[in-house]
Amino acid sequence: MSKGQGTALVTGASAGIGAVYADRLARRGYDLVLVARDEAKLKALMARLVAETGVKVEILRADLANADDIRKVETRLYSDDITMLVNNAGIAVAGPTIAMNSERLDAMIQLNVVVATRLARAVAPGLAQRRKGDIVNIASVVAIRGDQPAISVGYGASKAYLLAFSEGLDSELAPYGVRVQAVLPGVTRTELWEKGGLDINALPQDIVMETGDMVDAALVGLDQGERVTIPALPDVSDWVAFKTARAALLPNVSHRLPAERYRRTSADGVRQPGRGEHNG
Ligand SMILES: NC(=O)c1ccc[n+]([C@@H]2O[C@H](COP(=O)([O-])OP(=O)(O)OC[C@H]3O[C@@H](n4cnc5c(N)ncnc54)[C@H](OP(=O)(O)O)[C@@H]3O)[C@@H](O)[C@H]2O)c1
Repeated sequence: MSKGQGTALVTGASAGIGAVYADRLARRGYDLVLVARDEAKLKALMARLVAETGVKVEILRADLANADDIRKVETRLYSDDITMLVNNAGIAVAGPTIAMNSERLDAMIQLNVVVATRLARAVAPGLAQRRKGDIVNIASVVAIRGDQPAISVGYGASKAYLLAFSEGLDSELAPYGVRVQAVLPGVTRTELWEKGGLDINALPQDIVMETGDMVDAALVGLDQGERVTIPALPDVSDWVAFKTARAALLPNVSHRLPAERYRRTSADGVRQPGRGEHNG
């Protein structure tokens, strides 16, 4: 029985963060569409959530590496009942880029970047037209690690893309009353680590968050209207300072001439004019 929140479609709902989102959203009164490959796990989750919450739960088995399956999920996102997309399915391929298998790197970029983008694009027009809804993109704190990559450079870059995509899409959709939230979890206790050949228990345990705590915090962030939520960050003004520093660069990153330090100096030490200063 619908409790009036509409329907949330959660990708990667068979395990980890996605399964907890499904649980919490059902308790908030959302009907659900659960997307992943492992149908048995999705069925078990569906049975529990229907029994415990009474919401409607639908299973959409899909391998998001498969073009036909991606189209099936896009088609479901076109429906009028959809009020939320949780773009959560993702994989982490670990290791140095020079040693990485190209196909696994490609699969990671496809899922973390291309599929997340396509699903957001599929759901956005309907949400905008109905002037209501949320897109939640599960990025990662690796998105802001810059030249200090964790897990792998490609994984960090895929999540940096998702953060940039979220922030930009939020600006586009804000006039329609649609919110786009990027969630940047730190290390979270899920199977992702083991699947990526990494031992979460080898990490200092004071940087590891339980999945329930992470998702609950992200939903509180959404309730508070945050567009970027870093569940572990104690002081939100640190994020604001980061954004302010970035914004301060913007008036100065496009000019007619290169910056003074890049203007050529001839062998005799005489500064050469920039290209735009030539007469002929
Ligand atoms: N755990 C962390 O420390 C952490 C930190 C920051 C961000 N994140 C991000 O959080 C998200 C969820 O990760 P998690 O930690 O919950 O990982 P997880 O426990 O491994 O769960 C990943 C989910 O994605 C689904 N999935 C993977 N490949 C898929 C495919 N080809 N088609 C459809 N579904 C697929 C899996 O389902 P099936 O196998 O059934 O298809 C599973 O439900 C990811 O985007 C991850 O990058 C995780």
